[in-house]
Amino acid sequence: MNKTITGFGSKCAKEVKDPRTTTPHILPIYATSSFKFENIEQGIDIFKGNSQGHVYGRYANPTVDAVAQKIAELAVFGTDISAHALLTSSGMSAISTLVGGLLSAGEKFLTQGNLYGGTTELFLKIFGRLGIETIFCNLQDLEEVEKKLKENKEIKMIYCETPANPTMACVDLRQIATLAKKYNAWSAVDNTFCTPYLQQPLVLGNDFTIHSTTKFLNGHGNGIAGVIIGKDVDLMKNRVWQNLKLSGTNANPWDAWLIHNGMKTLELRMNRHCENAMTIATYLSKHQKVAKVNYNGLSSHPDHELSKSQMSQFGGMLSFELKGGLDVGIDFMNRIEFCTLAPTLGDVDTLVLHPASSSHINVDKAIRERNGITDGLIRLSVGIENSVDITNDLEQALS
Ligand SMILES: Cc1ncc(COP(=O)(O)O)c(C=O)c1O
Repeated sequence: MNKTITGFGSKCAKEVKDPRTTTPHILPIYATSSFKFENIEQGIDIFKGNSQGHVYGRYANPTVDAVAQKIAELAVFGTDISAHALLTSSGMSAISTLVGGLLSAGEKFLTQGNLYGGTTELFLKIFGRLGIETIFCNLQDLEEVEKKLKENKEIKMIYCETPANPTMACVDLRQIATLAKKYNAWSAVDNTFCTPYLQQPLVLGNDFTIHSTTKFLNGHGNGIAGVIIGKDVDLMKNRVWQNLKLSGTNANPWDAWLIHNGMKTLELRMNRHCENAMTIATYLSKHQKVAKVNYNGLSSHPDHELSKSQMSQFGGMLSFELKGGLDVGIDFMNRIEFCTLAPTLGDVDTLVLHPASSSHINVDKAIRERNGITDGLIRLSVGIENSVDITNDLEQALS
């Protein structure tokens, strides 16, 4: 420490020297907004891009970068594909950073009506106002997709979510990637429900994946963040990163660290989520008070075979409709004791949600119902508890 400091206050204000001699076993949280330069030449070099180095926390942060790199590797794990990832402040900011970084006014994107409600709102209310038009189409109908692509040369991106929240309807990712390439558009996939453990859109041919890491990747419900992963490393490091940097949608190191901590048990958790969801879906499908169960792991689900062809297991999400509609559904929700009524998904404990009055409340009722999100639909994010406690709770709430 500088021996010429004379004032007590100066001593208090001065940063300390890092006393570290050995490497920490666990990734540190770099809680710093900026990085100091050894000299002005080093600063100029880094700012000009002539040498690598951290500058300012909104541009990049070592904790955030390490976690992004790990997710990029998981997204293409088991292949020799290269990918680059950027962590963002939320799942929504992953979508807005990607779309805002790549599309301009006058361009369009093609998507499905059964997206997460917030995404539909973002596309219509924010991007619509900025002159980027959303065209809705049934992405399962590939002839219709091709027709729309032929009619609208301005479509620059096909955006899909599979399985979709909360009906578990699936889109054929290989076919969408092929059609997008044929018409010179990008394909982007919200892979939040699956994580790279269950589905790898980049390996199936798609250009980008986004995740709300708030959900299964973090897994413990203690942080909000998102991630964009792309195979065009140059595009990711330039146009997409530039949008992140200038619109300030970067993740903070605390949330990045929590994602990293959560991901250490991702495989174990996802195996248990999938196993429990299958048990609960089977139980519900046999219950006399249940009218319909949407779980793509059931052979009765219309997209069961498609799911098998692109997912390694069927995931931890399902939804169901009770006989008697909305009133019965509300009564059921109020009887829940062991599970939790909470508007999120992918945590270790089982969460129950009523989409029509929460996640999809601002989506036009006609669009909602056309896509199977009826007033009586209940969504379950099946946790990793002992499944007997989940079924016991459902049983007492249904009785
Ligand atoms: C499928 C899906 N994508 C994106 C989001 C948005 O994520 P976040 O809440 O982290 O912004 C959600 C939120 O529930 C979601 O379910």
